[in-house]
Amino acid sequence: MALETLYVPLKHSHLLLVAISIIFFIARGGSKIFAREWQNKLFVKISAHSIDTLLLLTGVLLMFATAQYPIAQAWLTSKLILLVGYIVFGIKTMKSKSVMQQRSYFAAAIVCVLIMITIARTHHPLGLFSVL
Ligand code: HEM
Repeated sequence: MALETLYVPLKHSHLLLVAISIIFFIARGGSKIFAREWQNKLFVKISAHSIDTLLLLTGVLLMFATAQYPIAQAWLTSKLILLVGYIVFGIKTMKSKSVMQQRSYFAAAIVCVLIMITIARTHHPLGLFSVL
């Protein structure tokens, strides 16, 4: 079966996983910042990592299904650069000891993922800033 025929289910799965990934990150980051500790539970960590892996997988499959690739498509390049920010700031949020740092990294990760959504929606490397 050609991948293009799976475009609609892939896109819906991708969007659902984007929403779940952000909800999970807000919940885990909030739990860390407010010292609730349940973010360290094994099933929470495994669920979050599985969701993020599936999110990346549907993204890569969508890339082939729509024949849009980083470098060739500038919006995809800038989306992937911000993805690195979402991942790195997310890890830093969960690993930082100071609450001030946790909050700052958390905010930076949320900003990255929100800009990614606007980049994906507009297919423009500047996302919502393209209107300025
Ligand atoms: C946190 C990570 C991600 C977020 C928040 C995100 C967000 C989105 C959103 C909101 C859309 C739908 C855009 C629309 O309505 O047309 C989309 C589509 C897409 N995403 Fe992602 N994405 C993520 C990860 C990835 C990754 C890792 C890749 C590729 C390696 C990728 C590749 C694509 C492609 C190719 C589309 C299809 C665009 C089209 O329909 O033309 N995404 N993404």
